[in-house]
Amino acid sequence: MSDDMNNSGPYSASPTAVSTRSRTSRRNFIKGVIASGATVSAGGYLMTMAGCSSDSGDGGSASAPAPGTVERMLVLNVNGERRTVDVLPQETLAMTLRYKLSLTGTKLGCDRGECGACTVLIDDVAYNACSVLTHTLRGRNVMTIEGLAAADGSLHPVQQAFIDELGPQCGFCTPGQVMSAVALLKENPRPSRQQAREAMAGNLCRCGAYDNYLNAVMRAARGA
Ligand code: FES
Ligand code: FES
Repeated sequence: MSDDMNNSGPYSASPTAVSTRSRTSRRNFIKGVIASGATVSAGGYLMTMAGCSSDSGDGGSASAPAPGTVERMLVLNVNGERRTVDVLPQETLAMTLRYKLSLTGTKLGCDRGECGACTVLIDDVAYNACSVLTHTLRGRNVMTIEGLAAADGSLHPVQQAFIDELGPQCGFCTPGQVMSAVALLKENPRPSRQQAREAMAGNLCRCGAYDNYLNAVMRAARGA
C-alpha cells in the first residue's frame, strides 16, 4: 500500500495534523466569540453613553431603556446630596442605602414591610425602605436618619426629645421611630396623643419602649 493510500481517508491523518487543525479551528472560534461579545458590549456602552448624553441633569434620561429593563445608573437625592449609584432592577432602597451608600442608620429588621426599622422619608413622607425599589426614585428626595442633625452636629428636636424621654433601649428600632415621628410632625405639627400613636403604629419595638417614644413625640410637638 502506497504512502498516499495510507494517508487517505478519515483515519489516515496523523494525530499531530488533527490536533493542529482542531486547535486552529478552536482558536478561530474563540476569537469569533470574543469579537462578537466585544461588539455587543461596545454597542451597549455606546447606547448607554447616548442615554447619558441626553440626561436632563435631574437624574432622568431622555432615552427610555429597552422594554422590560431599567436604566441602572441613577442619581438619588439623599440627605441633600446628589449620589450616583448603580442599582439592580430588583434592588430595594434599604439595600442601596446600607450597602452602596454606607448609610447604615437605616436598619433592616423584617425586610418585608412589617417592622418599620427601615423607615425613611421620601419627599417628606414616611416609607419602609425595604419595600421601595430604588430605581423608582429618580428625582425624588430621600432623607435618612443621617440627614437629620444640623451641619454643626446639633440634634434634630425629635432626636433630642427621644433622648430626653429615654426612648432608645437597645436602639435598633430608634432610627425608624425617629423618622416616622419627623414625618408625622411635618404633616401635623400638633398631633393629639392618639394621632401620634396611630402614626407610630408601624414601628415595632422589641424592647417595648412604646410609651417612651410616644412621650417623646408629644414632647417634640410641644417644642419642649
Ligand atoms: S425592615 Fe423594612 S419594615 Fe421591617
Ligand atoms: S429600643 Fe430596642 S427594639 Fe426598640
